[in-house]
Amino acid sequence: MPLELGNLNRRRFFAGIAGAGASWLGRQALSAAEAIEAPGGTWALLSDTHIPADLGERHRGSCMAENAGRIVTEILSRDSGTAGVIVSGDCARLFGRADDYRNFAGLIEPLVHGRREVHLLMGNHDNREVFADTCATAFPDRGGPTGRRTAFLPSEHLNWFLLDSLEEGTPVAGRLGREQLDWLAAALDRHPDKPAVVMAHHHLKIRPERGGIYKPMSALRDSAELHEVMKSRPQVKAYFYGHTHRWEIGRTREGIHLVNLPSSAYVFEASQPGGWVEATAREDGLDLVLHSVNPLHRAHGERHRLRWR
Ligand SMILES: [Fe+2]
Repeated sequence: MPLELGNLNRRRFFAGIAGAGASWLGRQALSAAEAIEAPGGTWALLSDTHIPADLGERHRGSCMAENAGRIVTEILSRDSGTAGVIVSGDCARLFGRADDYRNFAGLIEPLVHGRREVHLLMGNHDNREVFADTCATAFPDRGGPTGRRTAFLPSEHLNWFLLDSLEEGTPVAGRLGREQLDWLAAALDRHPDKPAVVMAHHHLKIRPERGGIYKPMSALRDSAELHEVMKSRPQVKAYFYGHTHRWEIGRTREGIHLVNLPSSAYVFEASQPGGWVEATAREDGLDLVLHSVNPLHRAHGERHRLRWR
């Protein structure tokens, strides 16, 4: 399962992160959290936080920890993420080290204090075992396929299906594997009546409605198999992912929305925004707002209304 921080496991989570930097940048957000009334139904979606062992480390002009701390404060102060917070993988800097996860846990701690459910996916820069040993020892896997961290998250207007595309020994690309695909297919078949949104870290190697395939070598290796599972089930409305550090929305030819979440940490192309996405579910779709870490970026505040197929 992704790390899930609900009311029941909150106390144990804190017991597990008594490491260096656990409260760094947290106090400011914590005071904001205390003022939260917590109604609403929005999801805060982040990806590629790349939190390092050295909280002051910078990469491509950005301080990853500072950005994450600022976003956590923003989520709390905006009443965002009241339905939950999902981080779409690459929580750790590069190699999934223990100190990365201790710092990561410290940075998201205010969200837990602010009574947000937090769900984490694994990316190619994560390490399942180190993650579990460092900050998720209180959250044993619940029988996901072949040790993968998968989750089914029901909500009022839609169901989330969180997948684990980290393939050990593969530095950049990802793979779900047959067992996880079968798990997804079965889970979708048990829940046909509500719109389904699928999320994994990696982008798909399938031809979208418009444009080309983005960097196929670093994509999900079993993209075609996942696409087959999704397109044959009409309740699947969208696929969310991270990995590319790009903010982009496309669609498959069958009308499944493809939403590339931006990185909160840094971008590879100067024109791209870093940041996070606020998602509010409707009965017939999902409203998205991009929040850039640079409020002067032209994409900051950009709104998209996804309508379900
Ligand atoms: Fe990344």
